[in-house]
Amino acid sequence: MATPGVKMKLSAAKTIMLLLVALMTVPVQGFWRHLCFGELGTGRVDPIMAPGTPSGHAHVLFGASNLGLDPTIDELLNSNCTSCSIVQDKSAYWAPRMYFQHGNGTFETVSTVGGMTVYYFTEGPGDGMPTVAFPQNFRMIAGDAMKRSFYGAIPDPPMSEWKDSDKTQQALMEKAIGFNCLHYSAGANEGSIEHHGLRNKTFIDSTCTDGVRAELMFPSCWNGQDLDSHNHTTHVSYPDQIKYGNCPEGYPVRLPTLFYETIYNTPAFKDVDGMFVLSNGDPTGYGYHGDFICGWEEGVLDSAINHPGCTGTPGDPGSGLQESCPVFKLQSSYDATQCKMEVPEALQNELVDFAPALPGNVLIQAGPERAVMPSHPAASSSESLPSTSGSKSPTLPIATTTATSSSAGPTQPEVTNPVTATNSDPNTDHIISTSTMYMSDGVEIDVILIEEIVTVTTVETVPAIEVRKAHLHRHRYKV
Ligand SMILES: *[C@@H]1O[C@H](CO)[C@@H](O)[C@H](O)[C@H]1NC(C)=O
Ligand SMILES: *[C@@H]1O[C@H](CO)[C@@H](O)[C@H](O)[C@H]1NC(C)=O
Ligand SMILES: *[C@@H]1O[C@H](CO)[C@@H](O)[C@H](O)[C@H]1NC(C)=O
Ligand SMILES: *[C@@H]1O[C@H](CO)[C@@H](O)[C@H](O)[C@H]1NC(C)=O
Repeated sequence: MATPGVKMKLSAAKTIMLLLVALMTVPVQGFWRHLCFGELGTGRVDPIMAPGTPSGHAHVLFGASNLGLDPTIDELLNSNCTSCSIVQDKSAYWAPRMYFQHGNGTFETVSTVGGMTVYYFTEGPGDGMPTVAFPQNFRMIAGDAMKRSFYGAIPDPPMSEWKDSDKTQQALMEKAIGFNCLHYSAGANEGSIEHHGLRNKTFIDSTCTDGVRAELMFPSCWNGQDLDSHNHTTHVSYPDQIKYGNCPEGYPVRLPTLFYETIYNTPAFKDVDGMFVLSNGDPTGYGYHGDFICGWEEGVLDSAINHPGCTGTPGDPGSGLQESCPVFKLQSSYDATQCKMEVPEALQNELVDFAPALPGNVLIQAGPERAVMPSHPAASSSESLPSTSGSKSPTLPIATTTATSSSAGPTQPEVTNPVTATNSDPNTDHIISTSTMYMSDGVEIDVILIEEIVTVTTVETVPAIEVRKAHLHRHRYKV
């Protein structure tokens, strides 16, 4: 690209490599991945657990821009934008944010890589019940923010050896969490939700060369009646294999299984003194959790669930690519990353990055006993605020630290920002943008998108971007 004699400028370019690695055979299933490239923000927002008031701890937030302290379904549906790629989905998705506590005590947000991927699994083995769409304004949570230990046997036995005690709702809930140590060049990664706790910094530094992927599977059996329940968990239930399997009595309706994946750029802190901790004061990972409010435009989710191009059929499970679903209207990854939440007035002066304490002054509690957080408002808290629709803050106390704005998947479109990685390690010359799985011929595939940041000489006065894709397709197991 360099032309001698023309004014030159150093800028950064990215090389994108796409690796497809077959990991394991799995039963036939239909699904799509909703790629939420953009963060709406990070802040003490949790309209399910703490409606109308700042929540006890911070979350990283994705989805419809009108997500705030207590949005109505109409407000969500009327959002100006979504930070996810399917524009008819005005749902809200959130989970605790990972932080790094420096040796001097300062808390810094760990950037997400490619935002959050939300899987919608829509069919599979089990009792053969058809999957129905979430009703609008359906709400649920998964996980338990106060938990600090794994109650089941360690190591967690394989599903084929599960006893009844492995299939209680409590046991299934704790097995539905994963922290996947990513190391693409050193053999296969762990399976999804295979390792349930967050490892220590020493282990992450030495082994998780490509980051740590937080994973969370939601319950998918529904009582068929309630949009929510008093503690936001009893109207739904896990089937006995977490993702699939049989629904317990009283939960006769099968909903799509939601699965959240968020990759954190932990290699940015390699060899930096400190520790990783979740925003709810949890260094163990067992208190990871997630929340969902359904805000799909009327009829769209139902159409997608019943369209073979979106989910595949039992004989042809499809790719999981949202691009192959004709029902979806997609926006670019760039547009998704431009969508931000209006910061609630009560939070406009709160530091959420490079802060002396975790937002909400949450204390780190390592367990193994349950955490106690006096400042955490109960779900029934009725503390009111001056306004939940205050004016937009000129400064943003809500951090947005997505490491990249690139897209993922074989139909990789555009790369927008030159170098936005918050990568503080000069020796790290690449970051992993997105890693995820989809089905092909009954084989589970890991899609790995690696961005290499290289310095090139260009003639442009604006940073130039070079995108190169390489496809590798390796099947370790054949069916
Ligand atoms: C949403 O769009 C409307 C009309 O374009 C604009 O007036 C409003 O400021 C936007 N709201 C946000 C939060 O960006
Ligand atoms: C603590 O260290 C971090 C990383 O070096 C730095 O950004 C931060 O400003 C420091 N905090 C204080 C209070 O010195
Ligand atoms: C970190 O975890 C590894 C693996 O579980 C363990 O062997 C090691 O002792 C731990 N290190 C610290 C400092 O806790
Ligand atoms: C929710 O409430 C039910 C009883 O109504 C209880 O069995 C369950 O443990 C509660 N779950 C949580 C997460 O608090």
